[in-house]
Amino acid sequence: MEPHPRDPGRTAWALPCLLLLALPGVSAQGFTLHQPQDKVPVTAGETLTLNCTTSGMDMIGGVRWLKGWGSENKTIYDQRMTSSFPRVTRAVNDSNTDFTIHIKNIQPEDMGTYYCVKYIKRDSGEEEVFQRGKGTEVSVQAKPSPVLVSGPEQRVVPGQAVPFTCTTGGFFPKEIEVKWFKNKNPISGQQPQVTEWRLKTYNMSSTVRVTLQKDDVPSQLTCEVQHSTLSAPLRGSFQLSRVLRVPPSVEVHTEPSPTEVNKTVTFTCLVKEFYPENVSISWLENGMEIKVKNISQPSELPKGLFNLESQVEVQATQEKNGSMVTCRVVHDSQAPVNSSAFLWISNSAQGESSKDSSTVDRLIYIVVGVVCTVLVLLVAAILYLIRTKQMKGKSSPSARLHEPEKSSEATTQESDPNNLTYADLNFEKERKTIRRMVEMSQQSEYACIQSNQAPNGDDNLTYADLDMVHLSKAPKRPAPRPEDTGSEYASVQITRK
Ligand SMILES: *[C@@H]1O[C@H](CO)[C@@H](O)[C@H](O)[C@H]1NC(C)=O
Ligand SMILES: *[C@@H]1O[C@H](CO)[C@@H](O)[C@H](O)[C@H]1NC(C)=O
Ligand SMILES: *[C@@H]1O[C@H](CO)[C@@H](O)[C@H](O)[C@H]1NC(C)=O
Ligand SMILES: *[C@@H]1O[C@H](CO)[C@@H](O)[C@H](O)[C@H]1NC(C)=O
Ligand SMILES: *[C@@H]1O[C@H](CO)[C@@H](O)[C@H](O)[C@H]1NC(C)=O
Ligand SMILES: *[C@@H]1O[C@H](CO)[C@@H](O)[C@H](O)[C@H]1NC(C)=O
Ligand SMILES: *[C@@H]1O[C@H](CO)[C@@H](O)[C@H](O)[C@H]1NC(C)=O
Repeated sequence: MEPHPRDPGRTAWALPCLLLLALPGVSAQGFTLHQPQDKVPVTAGETLTLNCTTSGMDMIGGVRWLKGWGSENKTIYDQRMTSSFPRVTRAVNDSNTDFTIHIKNIQPEDMGTYYCVKYIKRDSGEEEVFQRGKGTEVSVQAKPSPVLVSGPEQRVVPGQAVPFTCTTGGFFPKEIEVKWFKNKNPISGQQPQVTEWRLKTYNMSSTVRVTLQKDDVPSQLTCEVQHSTLSAPLRGSFQLSRVLRVPPSVEVHTEPSPTEVNKTVTFTCLVKEFYPENVSISWLENGMEIKVKNISQPSELPKGLFNLESQVEVQATQEKNGSMVTCRVVHDSQAPVNSSAFLWISNSAQGESSKDSSTVDRLIYIVVGVVCTVLVLLVAAILYLIRTKQMKGKSSPSARLHEPEKSSEATTQESDPNNLTYADLNFEKERKTIRRMVEMSQQSEYACIQSNQAPNGDDNLTYADLDMVHLSKAPKRPAPRPEDTGSEYASVQITRK
């Protein structure tokens, strides 16, 4: 570079340079310095490599790297005091021909033109510029910082248009592109506002206005940033549920009115389609709070909204006729929303109820009657069965005579002594002594029959042949006293003609 005569800053260094160059023999010795790179783009944070090589006869004096030229210059690397430049390392340590350096962790402020400069030591000990490279222009590209999307401070109800802002910063170059999406559908937003922030970096902000909808709980806003330093766009997103408030609709339902007196009436409060979930319900009867033990948990709907149902039971006493039952809902710390229903008690309650009850009573009476009848019959049957069983067990002995051929001509025992008479004798199983049997045999018109052995089975009947019985013809005597039921004697009375 040729010094400009009117540039005092440049004359300061140019003079010794010219003097040196003018020294005879110096250039003839063929010293050359190569700085091959014209422009080097580097991304912030990365390491920059600046190439510089020399050739020809070496001369006493060091090589330095300067950033900028003239009064604005800054020494980046000096061969004589390497420890002063912690970010800089040599590509080939201690080389006298390769002065390539690495500068790590490049920042936007490192942007500028870098010169590789050969100094020459003068007799005084001072070093003067001997030769410099053509300069390497270093541009530092900076990636935008993560994209942030911000929304309103407080929740908003559907129908309101609210601004959302997308920001990113610290990027270079300045050119940047922003796109907005709502659930992957592009929406038009403001052009990015780019402002310079610190040296050689920029910040960006873009705003979009969105009208929130009731069904926006699952919706998401996305800000997409495209920049030359990015291989893929950067995205920031915002869940609309963070700022959406959908107030509930509140309805109170009850059974068809009017109701009967003393009936329990259920009031149902339907709290529908709200967001967020936090809601509290209270019940009031004529403005006075009613205790409700149990309020169900909100149930989530497919679109992210919630429903809630609460029930309260009220005893419809006469004095509560016309009472107002209110369901009060406080949603997301907002003003209460309430809905009411009235409790009406029908006047014709008594008539209706008595008619009803008489029908019911009649039914009850019929049922009770039928049941009682059945019970009585059952009891009677049981008693009868028990009785017959007892009768069978304790049946008193009985005798029945079977007279042969009660023909008119042969009716007396005299006329036909061989005439046989059969008697059915029913004896108890009880034993009788022989003695008693003999004693009783004196009474001639009584038949004494001993059953030799008690039958083993249930059959209590003993049959006897009465042809062994002698029937006395003595005049009729008064009938003997009937034996008690325990007797095994049968009284056989013969009717005479
Ligand atoms: C710069 O120097 C490095 C290290 O010596 C070398 O690998 C690279 O090829 C050089 N680049 C140019 C453009 O000369
Ligand atoms: C660098 O700047 C200093 C003062 O800031 C000046 O003395 C020196 O001559 C300059 N060197 C070059 C090569 O411009
Ligand atoms: C610019 O962006 C950076 C990185 O995102 C941030 O730290 C800084 O606060 C922003 N500056 C302004 C003025 O917005
Ligand atoms: C309703 O209940 C009250 C108190 O329990 C009672 O006095 C009244 O007779 C009842 N009325 C009817 C119609 O059942
Ligand atoms: C609340 O009521 C529901 C049904 O109505 C029942 O399943 C649940 O157990 C009750 N919870 C409590 C704590 O009483
Ligand atoms: C609803 O609640 C508010 C606040 O408590 C009250 O002022 C208003 O009268 C209530 N409305 C009905 C219909 O109960
Ligand atoms: C309840 O009130 C309504 C309206 O005032 C009235 O028509 C009805 O007869 C009342 N019922 C009773 C049981 O008093």
